[in-house]
Amino acid sequence: MRLPPAPLELPAFAELAALVERHRTNAPRYTSYPPAPVWSDDYGARDLADALSLAPEEPADGISVYVHVPFCSSLCHFCACNRIVTRDPEKPKRYLDTVRTEARLLREHRGEAHCGQLHWGGGTPTHLSPKQLIELFRIVTGSFPLLPDAEVSIEVDPRVTTDEHVKVLADLGFRRISLGVQDTDSRVQQAIHRIQPIATTGTLVERARADGFEEIGFDLIYGLPYQTEESFDRTVDEILQLVPDRIALYPYAHVPWVARQQRGFERGDLPEPEVRLRIFVSAITRLVEAGYVYVGMDHFARPDDGLARALEDGTLNRNFMGYTTRAGLEMLAMGPSGISELASDYAQSFRGLDEWDAAVGAGRLPVLRGHVLSDDDRARRWVIRSLLCQGSVRDAEFKAAFGIGLRRRFAPELSDLAALEDEGLVRVEDDDIVLTSLGRLFARNVALRFDAYASPIGAAAETRFSTTV
Ligand SMILES: C[S@@+](CC[C@H](N)C(=O)[O-])C[C@H]1O[C@@H](n2cnc3c(N)ncnc32)[C@H](O)[C@@H]1O
Ligand code: SF4
Repeated sequence: MRLPPAPLELPAFAELAALVERHRTNAPRYTSYPPAPVWSDDYGARDLADALSLAPEEPADGISVYVHVPFCSSLCHFCACNRIVTRDPEKPKRYLDTVRTEARLLREHRGEAHCGQLHWGGGTPTHLSPKQLIELFRIVTGSFPLLPDAEVSIEVDPRVTTDEHVKVLADLGFRRISLGVQDTDSRVQQAIHRIQPIATTGTLVERARADGFEEIGFDLIYGLPYQTEESFDRTVDEILQLVPDRIALYPYAHVPWVARQQRGFERGDLPEPEVRLRIFVSAITRLVEAGYVYVGMDHFARPDDGLARALEDGTLNRNFMGYTTRAGLEMLAMGPSGISELASDYAQSFRGLDEWDAAVGAGRLPVLRGHVLSDDDRARRWVIRSLLCQGSVRDAEFKAAFGIGLRRRFAPELSDLAALEDEGLVRVEDDDIVLTSLGRLFARNVALRFDAYASPIGAAAETRFSTTV
C-alpha cells in the first residue's frame, strides 16, 4: 500500500538556510515535462491536428479543458502571466468570436468528447461581463459538453469581480474559485500597483460561499518589494481569518526580460535572500500550525479539501493548472498562450491576441510551438510527477508501467542522488525513491536530477525558470 508523504517538519532556521543556500538553483515548475522552454518551434498546426486525430474516442472521465482569458483592467507590477491590459470593450468581443471558432476547430480535429474538468484562467476571466461569461460557457460546452460530475473552476481578481459575476458563475456550475490576493500590506500593495483592501477579498469570499462555491483558494506571493517577515506574518494572519480551503504561496519570480514592468522594482526594494527565506519559513510555519496540509511545492490545503485528500490517497496529479485531483486527463486549451496536453504531445498556442486571432480566423489550429514526447521523456515525466505529487517513486509501479526497474533504467541518476541522501533530503530504499519530510521542500531539486534537458542541453533555458525555495 502506498503511504502518503510525511508531513512537513522544518529544522532550525540556520540549518534550513544553509541547505537552501547549497541547493539554490533555477528549476522548472514541472507543470510539464519536458518544460515549455525546450519545446520546438518546428512543431506546428499539422502536428497537433495529427495528435488530436489519434486521441481516444470518448475517455470515461472525459477530457480537461483550459480556457485562457487574457484580459486585465490594470497592470500589477509583479505580474509574469500572459495578460493584456485593456479597457477597450471591443477586444473581449473579438476574443469571444475567435474562441467560438477555436472550440469548433478543436472539436472537428479531436472528435466528440465530454469535459470532466473545466478551468478558466488568465489574465482575469471576470474582466468579461457576466453576460460574456455565459456566452463563453456556452461556446466551450457547445463543443465539449460537461459531464454531470465535472469539476468547474475559475481564477478571479477580487477587485473587479462583482456579486453578479459570482452569481452567474455559480449558476453555470462553477464550484471552485481562486482569488488573487498576493499581500495585504498597504505599502507592498502600493509598490506592486495593486490596491486591494482585505475587506474586498472578504466580501467576495462571503458572496462565493453563500452562492454555493465549495472550494475557495487564495494566491499569495512572498519576496515582493517592501515585504518583511512581520508584514507578511500579518498578511498570513489576515487571510487565515477568511479560512480559505487552499492557499498557493508562490515565490516571487523576478523575470524582467519577460515582464518588463518588473524593471521598476529597484533591486534594493526586494527583500534580501535571507529575509525572503525568513518570510517563507514563517508563513509555512503559520499555515501548518493553523492546520493546513502541505500539498507540495507551493500549495497548502485544509485537510478536508480535495487536494489534501488526493495527496492522502495517492491520486494527486500535476498539469498546466498546477496540482489537480483528476489524474491523466487529456487537456485541450483555448485562448492565446493556452497549452494542450495529449498522450504524447504538448502544444502551445500563439501568445499574442493578433497572431492567435489570425491563425484561428484562417481555419488553422493556432500552434506556436510544441513537443512530441519520446519514450525517454515519458519515463522521466512519470518519475518527476511521482516525486512532485506522491513524494516518492515506487520501483514496482515504474516496472509495471515501463517494463524495467528504476535502478536499471536510471542508474546514473540514482547514484547522483547520493549527495542529496547525505543531506537527509531523500532516501533510496529497495530501489524506491522517497523524499524525506524536509526533502519535500526540495522536490524540484530531486526532480532536476531526472530532467534530461536541464543540463547541458537545457542550461540556457534554465535561466528562464524561477529559483527553487
Ligand atoms: C492569473 S493570476 C490570478 C487571477 C487574477 N488575475 C488576479 O491577479 O487576481 C495568477 C497568479 O499568478 C501569480 N503570479 C503572477 N505573477 C507572478 C510572479 N511574477 N511571481 C509569482 N507569482 C506570480 C499571482 O499570485 C496571481 O494571483
Ligand atoms: S496579477 Fe492578475 S490582475 Fe494583475 S496583471 Fe497579472 S493577471 Fe492581471
